[in-house]
Order: sequence, then C-alpha cells, then structure tokens
Amino acid sequence: MIPPNMEPAAGRVAFAYDRMRYHPPEVSGRIATAITAPVEARFKDPHFLEIGVGTGRIGVPVLARGYRFTAVDTDPAMLAVFRYKIAGVARKVRLLQADARELPFEKGSFQAVISVHLWHLIPDWQRALLEALRVLEPGGFLFEGWDESLGESEDCRIQERWREILEGMGFALERGRHRARLLEVGRALEKLGLEPEVEAVAEWTEERTPRQSLEAIAERLYSYTRQVPAEFFARSLRELYAWAENHYPDLDRPYPIRWRFVLRRTER
Ligand SMILES: C[S@@+](CC[C@H](N)C(=O)[O-])C[C@H]1O[C@@H](n2cnc3c(N)ncnc32)[C@H](O)[C@@H]1O
Repeated sequence: MIPPNMEPAAGRVAFAYDRMRYHPPEVSGRIATAITAPVEARFKDPHFLEIGVGTGRIGVPVLARGYRFTAVDTDPAMLAVFRYKIAGVARKVRLLQADARELPFEKGSFQAVISVHLWHLIPDWQRALLEALRVLEPGGFLFEGWDESLGESEDCRIQERWREILEGMGFALERGRHRARLLEVGRALEKLGLEPEVEAVAEWTEERTPRQSLEAIAERLYSYTRQVPAEFFARSLRELYAWAENHYPDLDRPYPIRWRFVLRRTER
C-alpha cells in the first residue's frame, strides 16, 4: 500500500489536526468548566485569550458559553478552520494572526490566558510566557493544558516502529520535547514566585484504527514528526506502511487509547 500524500497542501494539516485531535463533547465540557469556573468566580464579564489556538479545540467550548474570547495563532490555515467552526455562533470572538511572543495587546487586558500544546513549539518560549503574564490582569489565571496517553497502545507501538525504521536509516528521532518543556515552564513560573497547581480534569478512551495512527504520522500531525527531512520521511513511511500491512490482520479494526487531560492553573 502506498502511504497517502506526504507533502500536505496548505490547510490540509489544519483539517487533519481538527479531525484527529478531537475531544469527546463531555471531555470538552469538563475542560471548559475547569477553565471558566475559577475565572467566573473572580471576575465579572471576563475576557479570555488563547495563544496558539489552533482549530479551537479548547477555545470553541469556552466561547460557546458566551464569554468574550480572543485568540491568536501564527498559522492562517489553523485560524481559517477555526473560523468555519464558529460561523454563526461567535458574537464575542476575535481571531488574530499573531505571535505569542509579541502579543498585540495592552498590559492586563485579559482575566485568563489559555495555552495548550504550545510551549514546545517555541524555542524562545520564555518570551511567550512573559507575554502571557504581561497581558493578564493581576489576580487573573494562566491555564496550560495537555493531553497525556495512559499506558501502552497500538498507537505507541506504531510510532515506536517508525522510530526504529528511521534509526535503521541513520536518522535519530528526538521525542519527549513537549513533556520536558512543560517541566521547564513550570520551574520558570515558580522562579517568578508563582504557584502553579496541576489537576487532571478528564479521562476518556478513544477508539483509533492502525490506519488512523499511520495517517497521523503521514500527515505530520505531531510536532516531533516535522524534524524528519522529506527524503527520510518518504522512505521511512513506505517501510512503515509495509510493516503495518503484515503486522495487523485488519488496518481498520479499532484499538483503544486511554487519555487524560491535565490542566496547570497559575494565578498571576
Ligand atoms: C499543537 S497546536 C495546538 C492547538 C490548540 N492549542 C490545541 O490544543 O488544539 C499548536 C498551535 O500553535 C501555533 N503556534 C506555533 N507557534 C506559535 C507562536 N509563536 N505564536 C502563536 N501560535 C503559534 C501553531 O500554528 C498551532 O496552531
């Protein structure tokens, strides 16, 4: 079998991201409640800012509750998908193409800043963190969130097999940047005298097929996949697809992945 298009057209990754990084509605609801409840309890008519908003996986359930919501992202394709999703429901929403390291807002403009799966994508993340704190009103909250897979799954197995194939070709794949960066950011917040609090807000099981796991790599959905140059990428994927066809009796039979969403809340 030939792997799908490996040099995605503009916008394709954004749609693929939106489809695959999906939270079930009850999970989205719990995340939105964990974010909005403490802000609502402290501020009247709070204004939320999300940095690196992507296609609005976290933002849409927050803005659907009627709050003022502003979001920035550097990728116009991600923002375009977000705009489609909120057409007709977004009365108090502003989406801007802007960099989290240089936010076009006055000091203290927001009562909450949300950052989910972003820090590891910014080499000089310290600038983005300081910007997030700058635009927060004193007493406001910084929310950092992330998904964690619990235990082993076929998805891990497929990603591990890909890493082995690349290693065999002489390319060392670096993983785990996201987790390492979260630790660094947590330490930076504490150094600033702040007190981050971590809470697991939802757990759920996703059904995913081997074919979907392969597609997630082929579409370069995970940021760690983007370090692989095109030439290695194409060759390694051909090998991975060939391995998967032999290894799985049915590429479309789903397997479970257990997930947890974790939120770190820091009061400014
Ligand atoms: C992994 S996605 C996460 C999207 C969303 N927060 C979520 O959890 O679904 C990271 C997003 O951050 C954006 N991004 C990367 N660097 C950025 C920067 N310096 N400033 C703003 N957005 C950035 C990317 O374009 C992408 O949409």
